[in-house]
Amino acid sequence: MKLRRVLVVAAAAGLAFSGLAGAEETCVTCHRELTPGQVADWEVSKHFENDVTCSSCHGEEHTGKDDVAKAAFPDEHVCAECHEEQFEQFSKGKHNFGWAAMNAMPVTHVEPDELMEGGRGCGGCHNMGIKTEEQKAEQRAKGYRYQNNSCDECHTRHTFSKKEALNPRACQQCHMGYDHPQWEMWSSSKHGARWFARKDGDLPAGAAAPKCQDCHMPGGDHNNHTAWGFLGVRLPLPEDPQWKADQITILKALGVLNPETGEPTARLEAVKAVDLARLTEEAWQTEREKMIRTCSQCHSETYAREQLAMGDAMMQKADRLMAEAIEIVAGLYKDGILKKPESYAFAYPDFLYFMRTSGSDSATGSYIEQVLFQMYMKHRMRTYQAFFHVNPDYAYWYGWAMMTKDLGHIKELAQTLRATHGNGG
Ligand code: HEC
Ligand code: HEC
Ligand code: HEC
Ligand code: HEC
Ligand code: HEC
Ligand code: HEC
Ligand code: HEC
Ligand code: HEC
Repeated sequence: MKLRRVLVVAAAAGLAFSGLAGAEETCVTCHRELTPGQVADWEVSKHFENDVTCSSCHGEEHTGKDDVAKAAFPDEHVCAECHEEQFEQFSKGKHNFGWAAMNAMPVTHVEPDELMEGGRGCGGCHNMGIKTEEQKAEQRAKGYRYQNNSCDECHTRHTFSKKEALNPRACQQCHMGYDHPQWEMWSSSKHGARWFARKDGDLPAGAAAPKCQDCHMPGGDHNNHTAWGFLGVRLPLPEDPQWKADQITILKALGVLNPETGEPTARLEAVKAVDLARLTEEAWQTEREKMIRTCSQCHSETYAREQLAMGDAMMQKADRLMAEAIEIVAGLYKDGILKKPESYAFAYPDFLYFMRTSGSDSATGSYIEQVLFQMYMKHRMRTYQAFFHVNPDYAYWYGWAMMTKDLGHIKELAQTLRATHGNGG
């Protein structure tokens, strides 16, 4: 972008550029002493080169130690004044649903605020998405003042670098661990191994080695979506009758279908509102075909299709195990061996309470539902995510093998619960 345009846009947006040099000298003079790391960061940024200054983003209201609260914190709209294209793409993408999806979970509202608005735990990764004024007010009311910007999750402040965001490590903080170990899977796959070998100079600079951004932000597109998404469910449901039945069982445990009638619940609307799943065959297919085109840059199209179809087939097989396990636990509710926790809408497992599954307000027997939750959230996820990220160990030992172990465990626990029910045991 040309500086001229920036100045025009900035002026139009009411950002004060007049008397800039004087004001800036003051911000930087103080902050070079106070927060030298921030000034150093800014000084190596493209913003510094282009006269985008502290006050372009933080305003000019705060001028000293007595009015610190007047310093503005720039949300994504401030970035959009000069980076409209990336803002527009971002606002259509999945990242824009991070905050809303977190807040749509019942569990969020029974956990400590430090883990949410405070920006560690869930909120440390789900601070992705343009917040509404209402959401911001809610955050302020709880005493939290930071976490106003998503763009700095990949282009960290105050360098705001493009190169940094192109490094797969930009994704690592969030796409790792328990239920979405994409970092671990990719970095120990052949794709990742080649990327690191190339970085070390052990492969020529021109060698092919795909990283997260090549597959998920091709051409620098900030609108990110995949076909299956995170939960691995879609509408319309699969044609295969058994798979369809199994996905229905999973949707009941997600609370979006009424376990008694099979009718959609209010939660389905919440799920739709945060774009949790592709809702038409066409939307799913569009994302899948985009991915095939990416793989086909380095593999034959036939190979790429076969690889992704295997991922789908593994999801189908994982869903069979999953549904069997859900039905065992649901049977315990049905027979009154597990009691419906007060917070639950139905006497049926509810995955959206996470590890609070059958939490403190429940009868005994909560442990079995935690094993069930782990089977879903940790092991089912790994089983198919590993196929898409080409990781043999995650596919078997951390995924499928663990699912079969969970199912065995659940069967034994259920047997014990039934045997000891009514014995005071
Ligand atoms: C006279 C010294 C002084 C000047 C001039 C000054 N600041 Fe500050 N600024 C401070 C102090 C002191 C703090 C509080 C630091 C702390 O919390 O440790 C602060 C904090 C901030 C914060 C963080 C607020 C927060 O809640 O964490 C921002 C952003 C900021 N300044 C930006 C600016 C900008 C932009 C300018 C120029 C328009 C500027 N400052 C000029 C002294 C100054
Ligand atoms: C391109 C926009 C931009 C520019 C330019 C910029 N900042 Fe920031 N700054 C941000 C963003 C974004 C945040 C994070 C806001 C949040 O968490 O809500 C931030 C946060 C801060 C904070 C508080 C959080 C912390 O880590 O301490 C301080 C202090 C601060 N900036 C100082 C400065 C100073 C001093 C300058 C100039 C040398 C500057 N900023 C230039 C965007 C900018
Ligand atoms: C007043 C205008 C202005 C604002 C506001 C602004 N930028 Fe920039 N930004 C620029 C200019 C100018 C460049 C340099 C463009 C170039 O090199 O082509 C730039 C470059 C960038 C780059 C590319 C850096 C690189 O390494 O090539 C990123 C990323 C970026 N800005 C992010 C942000 C974010 C995030 C915000 C909001 C927190 C923001 N910008 C706010 C004007 C702005
Ligand atoms: C380490 C970072 C991290 C933490 C901590 C985290 N999440 Fe997530 N969450 C993610 C990522 C990354 C995704 C997307 C994963 C994928 O698509 O494979 C995600 C996905 C989700 C989704 C599904 C969104 C969708 O549309 O597919 C929900 C809902 C969610 N998280 C809620 C929570 C809640 C509630 C917590 C805390 C109890 C939490 N997350 C903790 C990073 C995190
Ligand atoms: C070689 C291409 C490729 C690379 C590299 C890659 N992915 Fe993926 N990713 C895929 C495919 C294929 C899917 C599944 C698409 C579908 O649903 O059809 C996927 C799915 C995802 C999902 C949705 C949930 C899931 O895991 O199925 C997330 C989130 C994700 N990838 C993040 C990442 C991150 C972060 C990295 C880097 C650490 C990365 N990916 C590296 C191809 C890739
Ligand atoms: C998920 C990580 C991520 C987030 C969040 C993100 N970006 Fe980026 N951004 C990237 C990547 C990766 C690139 C490099 C794309 C390329 O060149 O292939 C990039 C490039 C850019 C560039 C440089 C464009 C160019 O080609 O010179 C700007 C400007 C930018 N982003 C602004 C933003 C703004 C504004 C936001 C918030 C609305 C944002 N980004 C959020 C990852 C991110
Ligand atoms: C600050 C944490 C954070 C960072 C950094 C981050 N993501 Fe995400 N990502 C998330 C969250 C949270 C979600 C789920 C959003 C939602 O609720 O819909 C997500 C979703 C995704 C999805 C969508 C999967 C689907 O449901 O279809 C893809 C693809 C993805 N991220 C890729 C990336 C890539 C590539 C990078 C690095 C360039 C990156 N992310 C960096 C937190 C992050
Ligand atoms: C930028 C180039 C590139 C892209 C894009 C790419 N790959 Fe690869 N892939 C490679 C290279 C290079 C290897 C290692 C050599 C080999 O085994 O063919 C590899 C290996 C593989 C392997 C074999 C791993 C092993 O252990 O034998 C699979 C499976 C695979 N890729 C699937 C995919 C899928 C699916 C996609 C799209 C989602 C994809 N690749 C995208 C370059 C790429």
